[in-house]
Amino acid sequence: DMDEVCEQTGVTLSRYCIELANRGIIDSDLDSIMNSIREASKVISKLVNTAPLQQAELLGLQGEINVQGEDQKKLDVITNDVFKNALRYTGKLGTLASEEEDEPVEGWPGQSESDLIPVLSEEFAETGKYICVFDPLDGSSNVDAGIPVGTIFGVFEEPNMAECELPEDLSAGLTDEQQRCLAGTLQPGKSLVAAGYVLYSASTELVLTFGHGVVGFTLDTSIGEFVMTRPSIKIPARGKIYSCNQANIAEWDEPMRQYISDIRDGKGESGKAYSLRYIGSMVGDIHRTLLYGGIFAYPADNKNQDGKLRLLYEGAPMSFIMEQAGGKAITGHSRVLDIPPQFVHQRVPVILGSSEDVDECRKYFDKSD
Ligand code: AHG
Ligand code: MN
Ligand code: MN
Ligand code: MN
Repeated sequence: DMDEVCEQTGVTLSRYCIELANRGIIDSDLDSIMNSIREASKVISKLVNTAPLQQAELLGLQGEINVQGEDQKKLDVITNDVFKNALRYTGKLGTLASEEEDEPVEGWPGQSESDLIPVLSEEFAETGKYICVFDPLDGSSNVDAGIPVGTIFGVFEEPNMAECELPEDLSAGLTDEQQRCLAGTLQPGKSLVAAGYVLYSASTELVLTFGHGVVGFTLDTSIGEFVMTRPSIKIPARGKIYSCNQANIAEWDEPMRQYISDIRDGKGESGKAYSLRYIGSMVGDIHRTLLYGGIFAYPADNKNQDGKLRLLYEGAPMSFIMEQAGGKAITGHSRVLDIPPQFVHQRVPVILGSSEDVDECRKYFDKSD
């Protein structure tokens, strides 16, 4: 059972996925997708860790604006290509969506573009039934200063088209193939079959869930493998740290403003004043919250009624991980995982962390109803 797999240290991520596949917890296509995510994460770790040694190629701005309206960093683009190609070469991916791609991108039917692999036969495996959504470089405004950054990913199964109705305004003018791609990406976080993040920091940490709890791995560069270091991550029921960009406090909804002021001043349920820790990289701020407890928030504010973080490849995967670790994730009034995206880059307010801290915050919103 799962405990057998988790008890030994030295279990590599590769072996962990093989054991899950042997137990039928994941299928071989998902194992193949996880393999490509593992490989891409090692490449991105190397790029981020050595970027200042190749400043011309790896640091600074790309000179493009992405669909979010952000100035793309060179590493936003490079890491997006690394992740996208790794996933597509598996041939198991129907569609992928990325922060750095305007529209969902179709998978390849398994062929490799490199002529290193002789084409043995014309027919290729059908594209897989999985959809991957990802933020290839999270916290990229920090990357030139060597502050921790991350990658966030989520995996959905393709819905059967009979069940899902695309809103008329979305499906107008799209081919069946394009409608399938779009329907596959616009799924609520509760439909995720896997989610995880990679933190590129003092160490490279990969944290992952398939819906059976949360497991953490650390990259051992001496063997080039992610080794299991945290077999079962559970977030403390309550913490004493809050993590948010307090510069926006005047713009927040009243309940959020009141809640943060109270826990900052020791007027919350715990009676103790909380500390503020915020590095401006969601992956780093959430990894610390997951391990130490407390609350992370990017709330709605007057300028952005839906906050800043994107639902599909930031809010939903992180909320899935948080709930699997015994924590909670809300927008203020509702559960993040219940929200079906209306469009690929939809933003969502995110308040997540220790269950007692999130419950306490929720009371401020419920009172305001
Ligand atoms: P990304 O770098 O992928 O665009 O994400 C940046 C996000 C997230 O990592 C972080 O929590 C948030 O932006 C920080 O925003 P502020 O600088 O407005 O606090
Ligand atoms: Mn960005
Ligand atoms: Mn991000
Ligand atoms: Mn990003």
